[in-house]
Amino acid sequence: MHELQNITPKLKEELAPEQMLRIIFHYVSLIASEKDLDRLLLHMADMGRDLILADRCSLWLFDKDNHQLWTRVAHGVKALTMPADTGLAGYAMMKNEAIFIEDAYRDPRFNPEIDLKTGYHTQSVLVIPILNQNGEIMGVYQAINKLTPDGVFKLQDMNLLSLAASYSGKALESALLDQEIEQTQKEIIFTMGEIGESRSKETGNHVKRVAEYSKVLALNYGLSPKESELIKVASPMHDIGKVAIPDDILKKPGKLSDEEFSMMQAHSEIGYGLLKESNRQILRSAAIIAHQHHEKWNGTGYPQGLKGEAIHIYGRITAIADVFDALVSDRCYKKAWELDRVINLFKEERGIQFDPKLVEVFLDCLDEILALKEEYAD
Ligand code: C2E
Ligand code: SIN
Ligand code: SIN
Ligand code: FE
Ligand code: FE
Repeated sequence: MHELQNITPKLKEELAPEQMLRIIFHYVSLIASEKDLDRLLLHMADMGRDLILADRCSLWLFDKDNHQLWTRVAHGVKALTMPADTGLAGYAMMKNEAIFIEDAYRDPRFNPEIDLKTGYHTQSVLVIPILNQNGEIMGVYQAINKLTPDGVFKLQDMNLLSLAASYSGKALESALLDQEIEQTQKEIIFTMGEIGESRSKETGNHVKRVAEYSKVLALNYGLSPKESELIKVASPMHDIGKVAIPDDILKKPGKLSDEEFSMMQAHSEIGYGLLKESNRQILRSAAIIAHQHHEKWNGTGYPQGLKGEAIHIYGRITAIADVFDALVSDRCYKKAWELDRVINLFKEERGIQFDPKLVEVFLDCLDEILALKEEYAD
């Protein structure tokens, strides 16, 4: 909480025009190239703060579905939400008008709840609505505590902030849309994975566990948090091709004949065929995983018989997560194995069925994986 207290903020003189230009140039290039919503919001908040010499600046975005204003980044503050019709931000938004306040605590519209949460003291405030390209309200820009000696925001501040808002509006709209699309993709992918799972009557949380294990393996292998999250989101689809396998094979209580097994093996090619046309990153990753999760390190897997690092890292990771979960679970054709037996199999198959480095990673983070197994037990 320490950095949240406003201990004697340093006072500043109003900026000269060339200083403003320098700030604008700096942020224009950052904002134009930023696709990530969180970072974009941070750049916009920074730009607003630097331009009008506010101590803090934040962007509150309107979430219509939940009738809330939310902000991902305010200076020194984590994600916050508030009802869309409370506080100064809510007022500016509902009325579509700018608000100047000299002392927030003397204004009945001010909602001191956020100060109470953060330990910050709000005094002067400037809030302006942000409109999208169609003139609809997307949210508000809110600046708090002017750092000049007189301590109040002026008309010029409003004009500068409006300029900053209209400049960033387009980047913001497109980042919001990307986020919406990505969220939708995640939901669709997870639902499709569940459909595949229910078709093959496998244990309820299998796709969820495979997703969680895959993320842990990816992180501990050294992939970035972002890529690890991508694997987590995409891996529930690994067996989507099973939707095309006839019931009498899929649900056969005993061992499959050679012919039945080769029909079953088609699920990886079928899944790939369903997913491969998309250009979206998540679906492309899901396609790779559906295709390659039964490849083996020594080249004896299917469908392509890829060997070693020719198997995509997503495929190598999901293979371990999937087989681990298959072995420690009951299947229609087998009982769950004891953990010791499972661990022995992974040790024996190190460098044969599985990437040896990933087996090491798997053994190293076994505790974490077992905790997830409990958390997502059926
Ligand atoms: P699954 O049951 O989810 O198994 C996924 C993978 O875990 C299997 O891929 C295999 O690599 C591993 N696995 C599962 N059970 C065992 C086991 O008892 N011993 C060993 N060493 N590994 C095991 P695989 O073999 O390519 O099979 C793909 C899918 O084909 C399986 O998914 C399952 O749906 C089906 N399947 C495989 N064998 C049989 C069978 O004998 N009977 C039936 N009904 N289905 C089978
Ligand atoms: C308000 O808008 O009234 C409170 C929000 C804040 O202080 O950040
Ligand atoms: C499933 O994903 O529904 C279980 C079968 C497998 O992992 O291959
Ligand atoms: Fe599979
Ligand atoms: Fe599976």
